[in-house]
Amino acid sequence: MYNYIFLILIYFEIGETKILSDKLNVLLILADDGGFEMGTYRNKICQTPNLDQLAKNSLIFNKAFTSVSSCSPSRAALLTGMPSHQNGIYGLHQGVHHFDSFKNIRSISKILKENKIRTGIIGKKHVGPENVYPFDFSETEENNSILQVGRNITHIKLLTRQFLNTSEPFFLYIGFHDPHRCGHTNPEYGEFCQRFGNGEPGMGFIPDWQPIIYQPDELELPYFIPNTWEARKDVAAQYTTISRLDQGVGLIINELKTSGHYNNTLIIYTSDNGIPFPSGRTNFYDSGIAEPLFISSPIHKERKGQVTNSLSSLLDIVPTLLDWYGIKNDTAAITYNEVEETDILTGKSLLPLLEKEPADKSKEIVFGSHNLHEITMYYPMRMARSQRYKLIHNLNYYAPFPIDQDLYVSPTFQDILNRTKTNQNPFWYKSLREYYKRPEWELYDLKYDPEELNNIVKKNSSQAIFNELRNKIYQWQRQTNDPWICSPHAVFENVGKFKHDPQCLDLDNAW
Ligand SMILES: *[C@@H]1O[C@H](CO)[C@@H](O)[C@H](O)[C@H]1NC(C)=O
Ligand SMILES: *[C@@H]1O[C@H](CO)[C@@H](O)[C@H](O)[C@H]1NC(C)=O
Ligand SMILES: *[C@@H]1O[C@H](CO)[C@@H](O)[C@H](O)[C@H]1NC(C)=O
Ligand SMILES: *[C@@H]1O[C@H](CO)[C@@H](O)[C@H](O)[C@H]1NC(C)=O
Ligand SMILES: *[C@@H]1O[C@H](CO)[C@@H](O)[C@H](O)[C@H]1NC(C)=O
Ligand SMILES: *[C@@H]1O[C@H](CO)[C@@H](O)[C@H](O)[C@H]1NC(C)=O
Ligand SMILES: *[C@@H]1O[C@H](CO)[C@@H](O)[C@H](O)[C@H]1NC(C)=O
Repeated sequence: MYNYIFLILIYFEIGETKILSDKLNVLLILADDGGFEMGTYRNKICQTPNLDQLAKNSLIFNKAFTSVSSCSPSRAALLTGMPSHQNGIYGLHQGVHHFDSFKNIRSISKILKENKIRTGIIGKKHVGPENVYPFDFSETEENNSILQVGRNITHIKLLTRQFLNTSEPFFLYIGFHDPHRCGHTNPEYGEFCQRFGNGEPGMGFIPDWQPIIYQPDELELPYFIPNTWEARKDVAAQYTTISRLDQGVGLIINELKTSGHYNNTLIIYTSDNGIPFPSGRTNFYDSGIAEPLFISSPIHKERKGQVTNSLSSLLDIVPTLLDWYGIKNDTAAITYNEVEETDILTGKSLLPLLEKEPADKSKEIVFGSHNLHEITMYYPMRMARSQRYKLIHNLNYYAPFPIDQDLYVSPTFQDILNRTKTNQNPFWYKSLREYYKRPEWELYDLKYDPEELNNIVKKNSSQAIFNELRNKIYQWQRQTNDPWICSPHAVFENVGKFKHDPQCLDLDNAW
């Protein structure tokens, strides 16, 4: 048994403005399937004045990535600092399949609770079990309508007000359900729930929301969305839902100000995974893993409104919060009964970036680990991305890439499918066949091929970088105790006579 005493260190630097005791609170705002549809990231059509205002007060991350492009696994990774295979949430948590984290994992909410920080969650939780992710204040889909706690911004505002009425240091995590699709679950409100609460007959009313309507022909489509009328209508609906998210963020920041906590609170805005379009969510292409991220700190004024090109991972959020609250960074790794050397955090605190851009970013790297989304969607992948190159290892490469239920029924995907079946031009940047059928290894030079269309893994000139990234993935898998470490061409033996000398034993199946 090991006993650890957690200390919150409070420093006063006399004569300086930096008083670390101001580091009291954190507000973490998460969008659901949100992307770069905002002025901050140079989208000129989608109007997001509140997000843009927050970004102006923040360091804006240009190269932030989730380690897994799926809702529950991403949220679990965000809250534990451990990738999917390390924390145990391999796929979606809700419904009958309820993927859960391992029971001895210590999430940030658990660590903060132990450190007497008041923790709250409003909106979408989508992770479990309860004792791994405990919150003092909890209004989530587990005992509310997700539409109320995740999309009704007036309701979210009032819950936020209730939580912020406190003088204790806090961690508040707000999980919007906007701008997630809802055509699959609540089609009566439109494909993105863009009509929920808009005041039309039967839609109800959200007093604080002024919906913005967009014309499908005046949108800027990202390169990975087909240029068709069906897809354009889909994106127009998504933008309207983003206006609700944006105005909700404005209301929350306003609550923070009126509660008197604004000047003691670190504010982080990000999203769980790529947008719900083909090549987006569930993919390791940048279109599936690049996330908006900005961090606003009341004590780091050096870089407000600046952009960082440093590679960051959502796995860095837990180390950032531990750094912010002054909790020893390695405590997160410790399990209740004994120290397990594999339960380490591989992320880094992002607070130094708020002061200064690193001089040398050439060695930076982020990793990814995906296993499932829905229960049938077993498609394990591992990924490493440097500033210039991306390597994806598709472990199940003989199987067609799987499609999830809500993407399948979406107008964009149905249109691609219809056009493919009837031999029409899909007006897409790849064919459905290419999308389904992926080789074991995909290597892209992002400098010349940001759309990740030209797999260079077989080129002679790529072998050095291929080997380097493949090795880095392997090292990371070892560090994070990845059960898939030998897949798919070998079997991992680590018990019995291999207990002290785990090995990958060849299957002779690499045809
Ligand atoms: C939901 O559960 C939390 C924690 O158990 C409780 O405090 C809260 O009052 C519940 N909310 C509703 C609407 O039932
Ligand atoms: C804050 O809480 C106190 C007592 O707990 C209550 O009297 C007060 O009305 C609350 N304020 C707000 C703004 O909710
Ligand atoms: C949103 O929440 C507010 C406050 O609780 C409520 O008055 C309103 O009816 C809700 N709107 C919808 C569409 O449910
Ligand atoms: C935060 O502090 C600044 C500078 O001290 C002050 O101008 C501002 O009004 C404060 N903001 C809030 C919301 O308290
Ligand atoms: C943890 O703290 C140690 C010493 O303070 C530092 O060297 C190390 O980089 C930190 N690790 C992370 C993940 O922040
Ligand atoms: C796809 O084809 C089906 C059957 O022909 C049709 O009902 C549906 O409206 C089409 N969907 C789209 C998005 O074109
Ligand atoms: C690629 O490398 C292989 C093995 O080293 C060599 O035999 C082949 O000639 C090379 N091809 C080119 C085009 O350089």
